[in-house]
Amino acid sequence: LEISPFIASLPKVELHIHIEGTLTPALRWKLAHRNNIPLPYATYEELVDSYNVTYNHRREVNGDNGAPTFLEAYFAGCQVLCTEDDFYELAMAYLEKAREMNVRYVEPFFDTQAHTRRGVPAETVLNGYLRAQRDGAERFGVPSNWIFCFLRDEPLEDGLKAYRAALPWARTKDGRGKGLFHAVGLASNEYNRPPGLFEEAFLLSKEDGLHLTMHCDVDQKDAAEHMHEAIFDICAGTGTDRIDHGLNALDRMDLIQGLKSRGIGLTLCPHAYHRRQATEVLFPKIRRLWDEGVKFCINSDDPTYMHNVWIDGNMMKVHEYCQFTKRDMAKLVQNAVEMSWADEDIKKEIL
Ligand code: ADE
Ligand code: ZN
Repeated sequence: LEISPFIASLPKVELHIHIEGTLTPALRWKLAHRNNIPLPYATYEELVDSYNVTYNHRREVNGDNGAPTFLEAYFAGCQVLCTEDDFYELAMAYLEKAREMNVRYVEPFFDTQAHTRRGVPAETVLNGYLRAQRDGAERFGVPSNWIFCFLRDEPLEDGLKAYRAALPWARTKDGRGKGLFHAVGLASNEYNRPPGLFEEAFLLSKEDGLHLTMHCDVDQKDAAEHMHEAIFDICAGTGTDRIDHGLNALDRMDLIQGLKSRGIGLTLCPHAYHRRQATEVLFPKIRRLWDEGVKFCINSDDPTYMHNVWIDGNMMKVHEYCQFTKRDMAKLVQNAVEMSWADEDIKKEIL
């Protein structure tokens, strides 16, 4: 689908994008050489090929066609990120791209554990992103508030350690943090890792004054149970503030009702699901969520690992395949603004 002038010029807000999922083969190639990191690919073309990943996080579900799973490719990509400048360049490249797509405000996810477990100090990662947050707002006019992710397939204790290390870079309620991130999320492989395992971490971040979101990815094992926990049980029953993906709410009326009554919005990434679901199956589901009155917005997830479909391409798809009108498209942006954790002055400027 070609991006229409209407979608291109629509002011946009992105709430679900993993910064490490914006690493292009070109930047990866450059950083690998700069940092003397050997790539397991003989040529640049082979590197580009390695971005053709399978959808499910588990190899046995994908069948053995030799392609890496998404997470294998994503964490392999991370290996070239070593210095503060690397993280800065990655983030600035994304924020510049955001400006080009008329994205006015973003809340990117970042993983520190993906880097500290390779021996990169947390402060290297955090200082790189912090500098990009400031320069991206100044140079490209794209303000951002970032989201620290717990890797759910790592032990809770590792997540807590990573969180404590990152906390000086947060915007905590005492106002003393550096202001990079203002929320925590839950990402990586969800298989047998329900959100409740991270209750202690969520309670801690809530006490620190941070917002909370978590991935409930589409058609994962126990998807509906994980969603039920996220909506009703997490944080001593107060629930999560947002859910990333969450399309499986359609499986159960109690989930739809819970989302609505608690005002929990979904950050949907249609192209990510479209890789696996036929057009005539997927888009009627998104349309049904809309007709049920569930609040959601449209995002891109990991665009360079998902055929380079960015937020504009994702919005194009729902515009086309859900029969959303121009007015509906503007409402989707308004949803994103309302679901966002931007300061009021930024929200006013976008709408
Ligand atoms: N971390 C980064 N991208 C992710 C995705 N698409 N699903 C789960 N965890 C992720
Ligand atoms: Zn995601």
